[in-house]
Order: sequence, then C-alpha cells, then structure tokens
Amino acid sequence: MNSTTILPTTDLVRSLRDLTAERKVLVLVDANTKIHCLPLLADLNFDATLELPAGESSKSHHQLDRIYSSLLKHAFTRSDMIVNLGGGMITDIGGFAAATYMRGIPFVNIPTSLLAMVDAAHGGKVGINYQGVKNYIGSFAEAQSCLIAPEFLQTVPEQELRCGYAEMIKHAILRGGSMYEQLRTTDASRWKDNITADSIRDSFQFKISIVKDDFQESGLRKILNFGHTIGHAVESVMHASSQPINHGEAVAIGMCCASMLSEKYTGLDPEIGANIRTYVYELFGRRAMSNGEIREIARMSRTDKKNAEDSLRMVLLEDIGKPVYDISVPESDILTVLTQYQDRL
Ligand SMILES: NC(=O)c1ccc[n+]([C@@H]2O[C@H](COP(=O)([O-])OP(=O)(O)OC[C@H]3O[C@@H](n4cnc5c(N)ncnc54)[C@H](O)[C@@H]3O)[C@@H](O)[C@H]2O)c1
Repeated sequence: MNSTTILPTTDLVRSLRDLTAERKVLVLVDANTKIHCLPLLADLNFDATLELPAGESSKSHHQLDRIYSSLLKHAFTRSDMIVNLGGGMITDIGGFAAATYMRGIPFVNIPTSLLAMVDAAHGGKVGINYQGVKNYIGSFAEAQSCLIAPEFLQTVPEQELRCGYAEMIKHAILRGGSMYEQLRTTDASRWKDNITADSIRDSFQFKISIVKDDFQESGLRKILNFGHTIGHAVESVMHASSQPINHGEAVAIGMCCASMLSEKYTGLDPEIGANIRTYVYELFGRRAMSNGEIREIARMSRTDKKNAEDSLRMVLLEDIGKPVYDISVPESDILTVLTQYQDRL
C-alpha cells in the first residue's frame, strides 16, 4: 500500500531522505523542474539525475530509452529507486520506466504541477504516448510514496495551473456536495483562491478513494474518465495542429461535450449542464477547431482504450455527484456536440 502525504518542502526533504536511504536513486526531472524544483532538494545526494525536455512530446519511447540507459549505466538493481520530480509527464513516464525496468523497481512521486498533485501522481496508471495516441503503452504500478508540497506551485505558469484546476473541477463534479459548491460559488475570475492545501487534499483523496476499490479499472474507476474520452481525442488531434492544446484545456472541452450528452442520454437537468459549461467557458474560453479537426476528433474518440469493440462508451452525469459509466454513444452524436461547441464560438 502506498502512502500519500501533503507537507512543506523541508519535511519533504526529510521524508525523502528516509525513503531513499541505502539505495541508489535516479531523480527524473524536466527542463523546468530542474530549474525550479530540484534546488529545493539540494540537501540530498542523488546518484543520477536525468533531465527530459519539458512537454508532452517527451512521453515517448525515445525518452523512455534514455531512462533505461541511465539506469543501466548506473547499474541500478531492483532495490534501487526512481524519484519522479515533475508534472504528469514525468510521473507517467518515470512510473512506467520503474514498472518495467528489471520487471519493476520502486518509485516515489513528487508532483510539482497542480494536475499531478490532484490527479496524475495517484492511482498507478503509468505510460507513454505511442504513434500519436495518448497513453497507448502503459501499465498499472503504484508509487511507493507520493509526497506533495504545495510550495512547488509558486513557479507553475498560470496556464498550467488552470489545467490542474480542470481536473479539480472534474473531481468536484463527480463528487458533488461541498466540493462542487465551493467551486461553483466562487467567482470564476477568482479561481486561484480555491487552490489551497485543503482543496488539493480533498481532490486527490477523492481520486484515491475511487481507485482503491478498482485499481485496474474494471468498474467504478471509469468515472474518473469524465471528460476524457473526447478530451484525449481533442488533445491528440490538436497536438498535431499549429496551435497545440494542453491536457486541461482538452479535458475542459471534453467535460462540456459530456454535459451536453448527459442531457440527452442520462437526464441531466439542462440548467445544471448549462451551469457547468458557463463555468468552464469562463475559465478556459473556447478553442476554435476546423471542421476537419472536429471530424478527426469524433473518429479518434472511438480509439479510446476504454471503448468496448466498436461502440463508444462514455462517462455521463445523471446529476452533480451522480456519474454513470459505460453509456453507449454513437460517433454521430460526438460530432453533433463538438459542432454545437464550435457553433457557440
Ligand atoms: N496517470 C494518470 O492517472 C494521469 C492523470 C491525468 C493526467 N495524466 C498525464 O499527465 C500529463 C499532464 O500533466 P501536467 O499538466 O503536469 O504536464 P507536464 O508534466 O508536462 O507539466 C506541465 C508544464 O509545467 C511545468 N512544470 C511542472 N511543475 C512545475 C513547477 N513547479 N514550476 C514550473 N514549471 C513546472 C512542466 O515543465 C511543463 O512545462 C499528461 O501526459 C497526462 O496524460 C496522467
């Protein structure tokens, strides 16, 4: 069983020292976390530090190969450890390298982006992108520990913070209750006020509570894909465009489309659906996509790993706090809601 702790960086250094005692440690960073986060761990001596270029395109087999090479070069064995110091890109690829090197070595996640703190660093899904498809190669492997220091957020660019906030919104919609009310009743322009140690804890604890009963995603865990079936397709298609989109913005589009489909398929009150969309549009604005891109996104939504054979299975809402999964939706309806999203630009 792994442990997840939220703590100041001084305590994080102490915890990490205990966790890494008497073993070799490779710390994985990207170009930004090397500058902004690694210095806060300067009191610790790592046997190897590997820097990947920042950004989603580093979640690749080429960078994975660099990690394996570094582990081999430093003669890492199964008793050694990888420390993933970064956002979701680093925790995903670093976790996958750890899960597969010598059939698995321990790893610790130190998420440094909001998205990784509330989502990516938890739940054991690790992997890389392949041939333009998100997370196509991967595994399930839990970090031995996850150490969260909200201080790291001080250097995260606003656009990236907003991405993490999209996942906090997703968790709040799925959980409902005070978590959703807190977000909904705060003026969208003051969204950053909602990012506190307590709200970060609520958000990742919600994810952990869902994952603990369904680690391999055979049932309930699927609800965490709310907004992601279409969102991943948006991310993949727009990744190749001249104006790439980041994960959070793509999920925001996915949640808007899922709310429209929920009104049609699962009886979501249209007023609640409209509230979700208004809130998300205020935060993220709306992205123009060409008709060709929309068609490609609809087609690509069907390649999502969660689909059963030919039918597209989605997570929709009966209400706030009442998600339902495995709802069959035809590709033509995906096209319709994407077009509706586009028409309202
Ligand atoms: N495994 C899962 O369950 C899961 C869940 C959600 C998302 N993800 C994955 O997570 C990734 C997205 O995560 P992300 O948004 O953290 O991406 P990311 O790791 O690319 O980080 C976003 C940007 O923020 C920078 N950054 C991170 N921490 C920083 C800091 N403290 N100061 C300054 N800059 C900092 C990074 O260098 C990068 O430029 C995607 O690949 C997505 O598929 C995985």
